[in-house]
Amino acid sequence: MIKKCLFPVAGYGTRFLPATKSMPKEMLPIVNKPLVQYGVEEAIEAGLTEIGFVTGRGKRAIADHFDVSYELEHQIAGSSKEEYLASIRDVMSKGSFSFTRQPSMAGLGDAILQGKRLIGNEPFGVVLSDDLCVADDGVLSQMVRLYKQFRCSIVAVQEVPQEDISKFGVIAGEQMKDGIYQVNDMVEKPAPEDAPSNLAIIGRYILTPDIFDIIENTAPGKNDEVQLTDALLQQAKDGCVLAYKFKGQRFDCGAVSGFVDATNYVYENVYGK
Ligand code: G1P
Repeated sequence: MIKKCLFPVAGYGTRFLPATKSMPKEMLPIVNKPLVQYGVEEAIEAGLTEIGFVTGRGKRAIADHFDVSYELEHQIAGSSKEEYLASIRDVMSKGSFSFTRQPSMAGLGDAILQGKRLIGNEPFGVVLSDDLCVADDGVLSQMVRLYKQFRCSIVAVQEVPQEDISKFGVIAGEQMKDGIYQVNDMVEKPAPEDAPSNLAIIGRYILTPDIFDIIENTAPGKNDEVQLTDALLQQAKDGCVLAYKFKGQRFDCGAVSGFVDATNYVYENVYGK
């Protein structure tokens, strides 16, 4: 059983400055809920209730969000306003929250490696909360079911237009079944002419714990950062990594236009329902 889920949340969110000057980008609200809470709810729905955050400087608001706010709660106790706290109270009653820090922005691979002390030697999920996924059956839930069948690392993928491909890790693989590929190549943010396919990795992963040793032996790659994509390619060569074309919709909330689209979508389809 997979019980743990890692949230790398140390990034700066420069695209949202000045909003993110003193506030973590993961706390930006999509309507009334911070981005990171959507990801945590998706993890908990998939049964991954032990949540680990890899944070950095200036991210304490995330830890406070998943803790009791005594003064506020005392103030509104017994009033109708309490119902606004229902979703976060539900998350807090179901999950546990641990934190560790990534001292320097050395890449997603490095962030995952920092999380080793929270994960130990078991398979785990990873959520990049910039990617907001909406689906009746949560994307992580879909991936956990697939893991039970195949017992190897899985990356979520989506077809993207050629002009966007260089924003992503990109896979190539043999299709085993409808929407499930055995990965045989992976490139982090390739130029469009070097992309091995149009299947881009989005921010949902299931990883087996041997990934930690592989990351330790992975040299810095794209942008001189330790890339999870490079470590996963090694894992694919040594054994097996699957790519899964998930069912659902994904919004890139790390960019202003995706953030606005997500806000409109949630306001019209999710908020208050
Ligand atoms: C990271 C990964 C990339 C992946 C993307 C999904 O990049 O390195 O492989 O496609 O997340 O959002 P980032 O967007 O953090 O630069």
